[in-house]
Amino acid sequence: MARKKIALVGAGQIGGTLAHLIGLKELGDVVLFDIAEGVPQGKALDLAESSPVDGFDAKLTGTQTYEAIAGADVVIVTAGVPRKPGMSRDDLLGINLKVMEAVGKGIAEFAPDAFVICITNPLDAMVWALQKFSQLPKQKVVGMAGVLDSSRFRYFLAEEFGVSVEDVTAFVLGGHGDTMVPLTRYSTVAGIPLPDLVKMGWTTQEKLDAIVQRTRDGGAEIVALLKTGSAFYAPAASAVAMAESYLKDKKRVLPCAAALEGQYGLSDMYVGVPIVIGAGGVEKVIEIELEGEEKTGFEKSVGAVKGLMDACAAIQPSLK
Ligand code: APR
Repeated sequence: MARKKIALVGAGQIGGTLAHLIGLKELGDVVLFDIAEGVPQGKALDLAESSPVDGFDAKLTGTQTYEAIAGADVVIVTAGVPRKPGMSRDDLLGINLKVMEAVGKGIAEFAPDAFVICITNPLDAMVWALQKFSQLPKQKVVGMAGVLDSSRFRYFLAEEFGVSVEDVTAFVLGGHGDTMVPLTRYSTVAGIPLPDLVKMGWTTQEKLDAIVQRTRDGGAEIVALLKTGSAFYAPAASAVAMAESYLKDKKRVLPCAAALEGQYGLSDMYVGVPIVIGAGGVEKVIEIELEGEEKTGFEKSVGAVKGLMDACAAIQPSLK
């Protein structure tokens, strides 16, 4: 069987890390696409030169033309610009929307059968716009956010409890970042829900609340430390988990920004919910009953995402 083909649109910090992880995991051949001349070529060659040491077989190439992504099985999009000092949210939206338009057209023309994972921020609005611009089926276009948010949550919890990260599961809903809604009653250590662990004296409600807040601010914490960019290792690892579930038809249950069509009483929007990713793309959106603060938190998060979508539609009326 021929190797799978994975196209990475955007060969910056996350794009380069994605290529490395995909190589190490032998998920397929990699095409790095970027408008920055030489960057995708340089990263592809550098990574290819590491393959004999690490013992992986993959063809890695860099390109400035969309033709090169032809026939890709998976496309992961990180193209765009980060928010810089002095730039308003609308400035950023305007720039990244234009990028999504170009990328959407490129994917529609050359890789219409691909499973597309968007990482570009502001995530929930960008993946919604990318699906519209590309016109790919909604179950084939998803956004990476919840896997990263829940991974951060799991890491902080594992540290707090002194247990393996492998034994901590976490459930998050909603938009990426500030308004993310962690569902503590569905987050566990080896199946024991967090509220029970508070009762058992493993931690206190105050500490748990602080961990939830740190998770919400996880992206900003990294930006403050790095100063010149945003997180890239954990975002790349998260997107690779999603790509792997699709390519290997693993049917993993992962929190992702997915298109809602009636679920949670919402439609024509993307927001973070648990989904099943298999060979069919998004094979199922899991709808759970929300109660109390979970419900109000989710509604607030949905409101924030809608605000971004409206701002996008004001810039680009064709999105309405
Ligand atoms: N087409 C292709 N690539 C583009 C385009 C475009 N129209 N516009 C910009 N790029 C490229 C840039 O040249 C750069 O190499 O996208 C890349 C983005 O890389 P970085 O700036 O290093 O950003 P990165 O850390 O990889 O994050 C990418 O993911 O988490 C989000 O907020 C983050 O939106 C950002 C994205």
